[in-house]
Amino acid sequence: MSMEGQVAIVTGGAQGIGFAIAAHLAEKGARVVIGDRRGAAESAAALTGRGLEAIGVQVDVTDEQQVAEMVQAAESRFGRLDVLVNNAGIYSTLTPTPFEQLTVQDWRQVLDVNVIGLFLCCQAATGAFRRAGGGRIVNISSGVAFKGNPLMAHYVASKGAVISLTRALATELGPHNVLVNSVAPGFTLSDGVDANPTLVAGVKGPSLKGRVLPRDMYPEDLVGAVAFFAGPDAGFITGQTLVVDGGAYYH
Ligand SMILES: NC(=O)c1ccc[n+]([C@@H]2O[C@H](COP(=O)([O-])OP(=O)(O)OC[C@H]3O[C@@H](n4cnc5c(N)ncnc54)[C@H](O)[C@@H]3O)[C@@H](O)[C@H]2O)c1
Repeated sequence: MSMEGQVAIVTGGAQGIGFAIAAHLAEKGARVVIGDRRGAAESAAALTGRGLEAIGVQVDVTDEQQVAEMVQAAESRFGRLDVLVNNAGIYSTLTPTPFEQLTVQDWRQVLDVNVIGLFLCCQAATGAFRRAGGGRIVNISSGVAFKGNPLMAHYVASKGAVISLTRALATELGPHNVLVNSVAPGFTLSDGVDANPTLVAGVKGPSLKGRVLPRDMYPEDLVGAVAFFAGPDAGFITGQTLVVDGGAYYH
């Protein structure tokens, strides 16, 4: 198994895309820390119930102290940290909103989690990666950053920032053997999306029509790309963004 002996944190890993990633990395032999604002312990228990190695840590990625404690939990329980998957993000709870009606508060809420939260997790993990002799960061961005989707300008901007930050960190951390890449999903029927009928009604149909592979996209469609960037086959790849969307946008 390609992740045998590795220790991985997956933020926002309690459900949806994050849980699918956590499960896949654990199935490949990684010991996994699920970090989430809610449901982390229950989701980790679902993995240990399948004979996989996982712990859950309750964390709000916008809280610097809690993020530091999540990294400490990984090191104290499993002895090291090798992989950070920055998946926690605000998307599925958003209400499509015209640009002129977005408020500063809307912007701050999205940027706080999707950009500053990701920054805090990268910063906290970097110390652990130095102690381990290197590491991998995989940031979950989004195809919207390339397509410029309407009615969520703050979200689109936040995911553009994730791609830019991926490049900046790849440059800065490469000399320390920390490789930083990003996966950009298309519209994915995650737990959160399924729970937002307005979003599903507005986006599912057009997304399906816009793909060359004519079917809905699920969290499991993404996990191989994340495992690739986290694993031994991607040892000379950094600063890249891989679009996984069934052929909607060619990057
Ligand atoms: N679903 C899609 O269509 C889609 C497409 C492109 C990118 N993405 C991105 O993928 C990621 C996961 O999306 P999803 O659809 O699985 O979402 P989801 O809503 O199903 O799950 C998100 C998880 O993140 C957690 N979370 C949110 N804020 C947090 C915080 N401050 N601290 C810790 N945990 C927090 C939630 O509790 C939840 O468990 C997000 O970054 C999203 O922007 C999703």
